[in-house]
Amino acid sequence: MRILAIESSCDETAVAIYGNAPGHLPDHPALLTSLVSSQIDIHRLYGGVVPEVASRNHTLRLQPLVTQALADAGLSTDGIDAFAATGGPGLASSLLVGHSFAKGLAVASGKPFLSINHMEGHLLSPFLAKPSPDPREEAAPAVAAPSIPPHLALIVSGGHTMLVKVEKPGHYTLLGRTIDDAAGEAFDKVGRMLNLPYPGGPEIEKLAHQGDPSAFDFPRSLLKDPSLDFSFSGLKTAVLYTLQKLPNPAARLADICASFQAAVFEVLISKSLRAARESGLPLIALSGGVSCNATLRKQMEAACQEAGLEFRSAIPSLSTDNAAMIAFAGWHRHHGGHHDPLSTDINPNLALCPA
Ligand code: KG4
Ligand code: ZN
Repeated sequence: MRILAIESSCDETAVAIYGNAPGHLPDHPALLTSLVSSQIDIHRLYGGVVPEVASRNHTLRLQPLVTQALADAGLSTDGIDAFAATGGPGLASSLLVGHSFAKGLAVASGKPFLSINHMEGHLLSPFLAKPSPDPREEAAPAVAAPSIPPHLALIVSGGHTMLVKVEKPGHYTLLGRTIDDAAGEAFDKVGRMLNLPYPGGPEIEKLAHQGDPSAFDFPRSLLKDPSLDFSFSGLKTAVLYTLQKLPNPAARLADICASFQAAVFEVLISKSLRAARESGLPLIALSGGVSCNATLRKQMEAACQEAGLEFRSAIPSLSTDNAAMIAFAGWHRHHGGHHDPLSTDINPNLALCPA
């Protein structure tokens, strides 16, 4: 079984194939290829994503990327069992491009279509190994075990911050979420306040390496609150007030970045551990763009070790938006016997755990 997936929910055009390498045993699925064509350099000129520019670029880039992915995996569309695309959440005009393209491939080849929730892709990504060096070689090892154990998922992306109890693929319970800004959104907004290039997350991480995380005592909102929800908008305002009061903010950039990061991570880690403890879950899996941050990964891993919990996170190239995670989620849905009708619409506000 092989799934070709398209991700186009925001500003990355991505195509991946997950499943059995040609000529391999049927129970050894692996990531056969994962291609990402990033538009970040274009949107950086505007300080953020411009939806129409994003969808036009998806349209231009998608077809060559699909052709390349099939060639990399040594396959034609005949070798694909189902075509998947992100159906939401995301930008409507961007989602439509990938969703429609995957439907077209499904119609042309007479294969099923799968509409995948972007957040489910992130959630499952820590259990997806990196691509095998050359899946077409007879000796290529089977690199990904598709079993997903019960765990606590912390998803920290640009639009979402969620704590989810995962029983098995497709069985999710929302335990906590942000009541205002997502963690990644706070990184991007603080990055803009500091005049850093878009997106702010990686830039703040770089500067934070040279800073003192205890230089500024920024608020840890909802840390002691009994709920498992998050709030990052007060922290963002605290950074703004600090900047306004400092005589020469540019001289303290590294300290501000390190202190801001420390405040975000303390709350994320503390609430994840509490959620895992309260739900009796033995493993924490970290995913989403913010999980690229090496300090967050290191601190979360150390905290899990101290608490006697297992820790997993996606490799950095599969933490930010990619189609490998959509193909992997599609593989699980196809494996479970699910398909979606071609009448399935995109949904920019698609929920992972409907209330
Ligand atoms: O998951 P993602 O690629 O896209 C969404 O689904 O939103 O996440 C993008 C977010 C952006 O807010 C970006 O600033 C943040 O992930 N990010 C980081 C880092 N790399 C990306 N945040 C903190 N540290 C990083 N190294
Ligand atoms: Zn994402």
